[in-house]
Formats: sequence, C-alpha cells, structure tokens
Amino acid sequence: PPLHSMIAVHDFEDVARDVYSEKTYAFYSSAATDLISHRDNQESFRKVMLRPRVLRNVRNVSIRRSILGCESSVPFFVSPTAMARLAHSDGELAIARGCGSQGIILTVSSNASYPLSDIVEAGLPKQPFFLQLYVNSDRQKTTQLLRKARDLGVQAVFVTVDAPIPGKREADERLAAGNLSSPVSGAVAVNDKKGGGLGRVMAQYIDSTLCWKDLPWIREASGGLPIVLKGIQTAADARAAADHGVEGILLSNHGGRSLDTTQPALLTLLEIHRQCPEILDQLEIYVDGGIRRGTDILKALALGATAVGIGRPYLYSLAYGQEGVEHLTEILSDELESAMKLVGITDVDQAHPGLVNTARLEPL
Ligand code: FNR
Repeated sequence: PPLHSMIAVHDFEDVARDVYSEKTYAFYSSAATDLISHRDNQESFRKVMLRPRVLRNVRNVSIRRSILGCESSVPFFVSPTAMARLAHSDGELAIARGCGSQGIILTVSSNASYPLSDIVEAGLPKQPFFLQLYVNSDRQKTTQLLRKARDLGVQAVFVTVDAPIPGKREADERLAAGNLSSPVSGAVAVNDKKGGGLGRVMAQYIDSTLCWKDLPWIREASGGLPIVLKGIQTAADARAAADHGVEGILLSNHGGRSLDTTQPALLTLLEIHRQCPEILDQLEIYVDGGIRRGTDILKALALGATAVGIGRPYLYSLAYGQEGVEHLTEILSDELESAMKLVGITDVDQAHPGLVNTARLEPL
C-alpha cells in the first residue's frame, strides 16, 4: 500500500507482516515465552484515562524537548533495536537519515547491522546520537567501542541492564538464523542445537557478571559521557540508579523480550511516584514498551517521563525506507499534538499527573 495510506502506527506492522521474510518478522515481533509482558505493555497505556481541561486557547503547541541536554523536536526517541538491515538494505542508515531530517534522536544498538561510524555519518552533522551498550565479556572490546563512540561525538551511553542473558523468544528460535553479524559488537548469528534464535545467538558475548560497581568504569571508558540505565523495573533499582549518580533511567522490560510476566514500565513509574518521588528531580526518566499512540506518549509525560522510546514501529516503518521512518515520526507527532490540544496544554512542560486517572492500573 502507498505510504500516504499509512495513517496509524499499527498500519506499519500490518505491512511488515506481509512484506518482510518470515524470519525477519519473527525476530522483530517476537517476545519472551508467552508474550504476556509484550501484550501488557500496550494494555497498560490503554488502561490510563485522560482528564481534559477545557477553554484554554490551544491553537499553537510545542512538542520540543531537551533530552540529556540534546535538543529533540519531539519528546520521543528511537529505542535501540538490532539488525535493521533485515528490513531494508539501508537499515540503520535509513533510520539515521530519517531522524536527522526531523531532528529526533536514534539510540544505536550494540547489535546494529552497520558500523557505528557509518550510522553517525548518515545523520546530519549536528545530529545527536546515543549508543546502547551491551558490555562484552572481553572488556577490552567494550573499552574500544566506548572510545570510538566518544570520538564520533555520541552524546550518551544507554547501558542495557535487563538482559544479562538473552530472553527465550520462541517464534525467533524456531526459524534458522542465516548468516548475519553486527559490525558494532562483532556478534555473529549461527544456528546451534537449540535453534536459530537471533536474539539468543547474538547475545553470547554479553557479560552477565556486570554489577553496579562497574558503572564508574563504563563512565570513565566513555570519557565521561552521560550514563542511562536501560531496563530498570523496580522503584528500588531506580533509587539505586539515582544513588549511583547516573543521568537517566529507561524504565523498560525490553519490549517484553527478556523476562516474561515482568511489569510494564508505566507501573514502575507509578511505583516510583509512591516510593521515591524525589528521584524524579535527580535524573531523567524515560519509558518504553508498547507505545503506539500520541496519547500513550502524553500519558508517560504526564506521569513525569522526560521522553519515551519507540522500538518495533521504526523497524516496521523501514518497509518504506527513510520515508517510512519520517512518516512514522509525523504520525506520532501529529497524534501527540492533537492529544495535547484536547487535554488543554500547549507545551510538553505543562504535562502533569492531574491529566491522567490511573485507577484502572492500581493496585499493583
Ligand atoms: C530490541 N531491543 C533492544 N534493546 C537493547 O537494549 N539492545 C538491543 O540490541 C535491542 N534489540 C532489539 C531488537 C528488536 C527486534 C526489538 C523489537 C527490540 C529492545 C528495545 O530497545 C525496546 O526496549 C523495545 O523494543 C520497546 O518496546 P516496543 O516499542 O518495541 O514495544
């Protein structure tokens, strides 16, 4: 179908299911075991009700946001996703070009299918990038990657902490892996006795001994870049992150791909409001998993998120290459602007908890 007929984020998934190879769609769409968390992620946003205020001159709205000191034209960014080349020959380059043309930030995956330098070059000269980091058991390799990132002008490191071992994604596991590798991490995909799960075989290098005490080493190796912990799932760990002085946390269950039956990020955010609201002023909090509508973004912002991450939809939009990426961003931006006008705010800074009723999400 022509790109202009894509009017909702969900439309891109329908196209991807039709046009991507069975293996590609399985890898992108799959989640751990019974897909409970994957489903609950979207469901959690549906359960939150909006509480519009009226008569507030909403003709002009601004959705610009500063994320870790980087200007972003929208309060969302592209969450790191591996192997974009499976979807389109330009893979991450097309995503980077689309992000550059619209002023949005791409978090490059440690398992990206193009070299980091090529991806950064594909953006505009001043386009900010973040790097997602899986720490390698061979720490020397991680030191080298962080040095490269710093030299390339990457603005922050998102350390993924919810996947010391890979999740069990059965749809991906059942199909053969093919010959793939990531020039960023050096990971290669090979079939083994267990099957061909790309997520699993490409995660073999990840250091499952990583601990809180390693964070200063990561910061030092990156030359002092801001650190964000990706995959925080409890208020207790959110507080620990604040105590360790990181600049941000991404509340996430890895799109339901890591441990199934974990809670959606929105519930972790509510937990933080109840147990340690003071950390909302100490670091930036982001949310990802299941965000498919402008109203979903608004709900996270209302509950104090600085920004949200979008994962699978960008992989699906790659069915149309760079233009698809741009079109997806436009759909989400338009929906967010409309939602803001309809709840009576004109700037993302005006989002506040009074705009949402979370009664259906509670008790935990
Ligand atoms: C991911 N995700 C991920 N996260 C990460 O830290 N490093 C990675 O390499 C990947 N790779 C990856 C591949 C694919 C195909 C998917 C779908 C996801 C998780 C990702 O960053 C994010 O947390 C979720 O995708 C967010 O959920 P939604 O938006 O996909 O529902």
